[in-house]
Amino acid sequence: MNADDFSQLMRAHRSVRAYRDQAVDGALIDRVLTEALQGSSSSGNLNMVSVIKTSDVERKARLCDLHFGQPMVLQAPLVLTFCADSHRTRQWLAQRDARPGFADFISWHVSSFDAIILAQTTALALESHGLGICYMGTTLHSMGAIADYLGCPENCLPVTSMVVGWPAEAPAQRDRLPPAAWIHSERYQRPDASEIDVHFAERERRGRERYLAMGPAMEQQWREHGVSSLAQYYTSKIKYDPDQFSLDSAALEALLRERGFMVSRSPVSD
Ligand SMILES: Cc1cc2nc3c(=O)[nH]c(=O)nc-3n(C[C@H](O)[C@H](O)[C@H](O)COP(=O)(O)O)c2cc1C
Repeated sequence: MNADDFSQLMRAHRSVRAYRDQAVDGALIDRVLTEALQGSSSSGNLNMVSVIKTSDVERKARLCDLHFGQPMVLQAPLVLTFCADSHRTRQWLAQRDARPGFADFISWHVSSFDAIILAQTTALALESHGLGICYMGTTLHSMGAIADYLGCPENCLPVTSMVVGWPAEAPAQRDRLPPAAWIHSERYQRPDASEIDVHFAERERRGRERYLAMGPAMEQQWREHGVSSLAQYYTSKIKYDPDQFSLDSAALEALLRERGFMVSRSPVSD
């Protein structure tokens, strides 16, 4: 693959939410995952990740509930759950009489970054085979329940999931913020109000258009919740409700403690 092919692959990316009723070859998935880990940088080369494949229909149905009923979890033939996993590494340390480690908040980040990097490399690789994918952000909101359902041990938690299958739709490309909004030279350039207006103009127009094109039910919801712009929609009760996010964040913090990802020691005094 040359640089043009890679550009083409990235430009062709769409999240796919409708899938054909056709299995994905298990050997292909294992190969893609194996190559994706090889093709991803990994902090300290510790490879503190695990990926759990779910293709059994009944098990996907349960996962679908845990992903707030998002239909593609059931419809896609495969769900990949990417876990931040220091369990295996910690066990290895213990078996080699090494000092215990990687049970702290930094190691949570290290392992979850590795999992996310692997997920995105996997996504591109799957797309290069013509497969479709869609991330499931609901993983963050049901993390403990998904971990328990998938049998994750201590120091192993799912950070993202991805449905995979042969696309049954060809969605339009979604816009991104323009480069001027987020690429900075040498120093961060704080946007003033007029630059914010410019940077978000296209997003506001296209996002609003897309959501309201979903049908009269969405229009009615916007009216009921007093939503008149895309920004207001994002933090309304019907999208990313800050009150719910706050509750789920507290639960996530408690879960990280419970599963051994927040161990911190006071500095030893002489
Ligand atoms: C971490 C993450 C979580 C996501 N979670 C969901 C999800 O739960 N449901 C969904 O339909 N799409 C989800 N998406 C897909 C985004 O909505 C999508 O990437 C975005 O709208 C841009 O569209 P595109 O991927 O087609 O370019 C998620 C994407 C990411 C990166």
